[in-house]
Amino acid sequence: MCGIIGFTGTQDALPVLLDGLTKLEYRGYDSAGVAVQVCDGIRMIKSSGQIRCLRKKIAESGMLPGCSGIGHTRWATHGAPTDTNAHPHMSNNGKFAVVHNGIIENYIELREELTAKGYVFSSETDTEVIVHLLDMYYSGDCKKAVMKAAARLQGSYALGVICADFPGSVFAVKQESPLIIGVGAGENYFASDVTALADHTKNLIYLEDGEFAELTPVKAAVFDCTGAEIAKPITRIVWDVGASQKSGYDHFMLKEIYEQPRALKAAIEPRVKNNRITFDGFDMTNEEARKISKIIVTACGSAYYAGCVGRYAIEELCGVPVEMDYASELRYRSPIVDENTLLIVISQSGETADSIAAVKELKRRGVRVLAIVNVVASTIANLADNVIYTWAGPEIAVATTKGYTTQVAALTMFALWFSEKLGRISESRYDALVKELLLLPGLAQRAIDLNPHIQDLALRYHNNSSIFFIGRNIDCAVCLEGSLKLKEISYIHSEAYAAGELKHGTIALIEPGRLVVALCCHTALFDKMMSNIREVKARGAEVLGVALEGDRRILMEADDVIYVPKADPLLGAIPRIIPLQLFAYYVAKCNGCDIDKPKNLAKSVTVE
Ligand code: G6P
Repeated sequence: MCGIIGFTGTQDALPVLLDGLTKLEYRGYDSAGVAVQVCDGIRMIKSSGQIRCLRKKIAESGMLPGCSGIGHTRWATHGAPTDTNAHPHMSNNGKFAVVHNGIIENYIELREELTAKGYVFSSETDTEVIVHLLDMYYSGDCKKAVMKAAARLQGSYALGVICADFPGSVFAVKQESPLIIGVGAGENYFASDVTALADHTKNLIYLEDGEFAELTPVKAAVFDCTGAEIAKPITRIVWDVGASQKSGYDHFMLKEIYEQPRALKAAIEPRVKNNRITFDGFDMTNEEARKISKIIVTACGSAYYAGCVGRYAIEELCGVPVEMDYASELRYRSPIVDENTLLIVISQSGETADSIAAVKELKRRGVRVLAIVNVVASTIANLADNVIYTWAGPEIAVATTKGYTTQVAALTMFALWFSEKLGRISESRYDALVKELLLLPGLAQRAIDLNPHIQDLALRYHNNSSIFFIGRNIDCAVCLEGSLKLKEISYIHSEAYAAGELKHGTIALIEPGRLVVALCCHTALFDKMMSNIREVKARGAEVLGVALEGDRRILMEADDVIYVPKADPLLGAIPRIIPLQLFAYYVAKCNGCDIDKPKNLAKSVTVE
């Protein structure tokens, strides 16, 4: 989704804004713009395309000298990604400029009202109503105008505002869209996320919904929605300095694939104390655990697919029924829940709008919420009753990799921990699984070491126009993620199917030369998979088998094989997905795709 940034200080704002936008570009990359307070008002430059297009335009039209300003990188929702629809938007008299992340739901009524009052709209965006509202409510007090305009808005928004009459002041407003304040020495910032600020300051203020801030070089004043100033704690963040750099890798995605052993170590090891799983700040008595009669797992995208893997471990180890629901669906059906239901919400960013809405809806119905989240202090982490952080570190590539595998690890650890609370697991099985969990980073590394072979396979298969993934049990859940990875970054049509289900319709699409990736790692179901492979081969498909190291039976049927390291069946998803991540990566690379910024996608989907 869109990314916003604001700066005020004593140095030139433009380099800070452009650097911040470059770091935020993974959030939105169809257009971008900046507005700077210059000596005689506000100057704005915006451009469709990526940040490099904006930089070029700025270089051609001259610098924008000024020490405060706002910037935006857009992921279009209302109106095409054109120069005009790009943010910032300016009031007709040039007094105000606004950047916005989110959606203004009542923008049509507001647009009609403002048009009737003579305001002229130049874009198709919902955002433009905000800047005209500011102008309408302005009578010399910018803070008041910001409050009054915000009070008229329905929907979700993080706003950045500058006013020509208040040089050196930038305003930031938060309502259901991510926004943080960065506190520096003689300079202050706001941004959609910490990535944009980490090189400048480690001191952050997290705004709550309904709060807004006025930043000057010397003060970061935060107000509640009535305009009363409130004292906010400053949080010092720990940030991996290499996180926002590619560190020699061609793409963030590849870097993040390679970071998985380290991320898994960070997710798992601190939770294993004296051979027992523990979660800091989250516990349950055995009695509380026994009362839980149902678990609903909800999420979007890859996080949902991580849930699909975790479900096997929870049901098998804990014997508690698990319902899976896309967050965008859960909120609009009538799930049967009561105080004995546990909702597990999974989200890398902690800011996904549908997941947030699902959490709010189920909380309203009295359900306890456990969040599995990567980004500390994100909205979902704050809303949930309990949080298990995945500690994957910052993830920049739009297509998640380490975010997903650490979610799977966290869910499996939860299943093990919960099964002990329920008294359903034998000591020996528990010990064996803890041991296996600790081996996962090493297995992930061995899966990464398959890289040269995967590159060869990508070279061989990258021209396929449609690729199917089939598997059974946990392998079926892994297929969902493997297929999503491939389609989101390579744009190749792909479908993932439970291997036994393919023949009930989709097999009609199998024709000579079609590639079918068949995961055959579930030992008990190996023979069934062989039958499914024969079915597609009989229709001319080429088969890329994925099997456990040493299993030579696969060679009888598959055209090519990826051998993955053996793991306990409940933990196998991690070493199996990594070669599929690499396969998607190298296929996309062979096809010349923009891997870190795939078309039409956003890293953090903060609108419904
Ligand atoms: C977007 C991203 C996906 C991600 C999904 C859920 O669609 O492109 O990679 O899996 O959102 O995001 P979350 O931050 O909630 O895990």
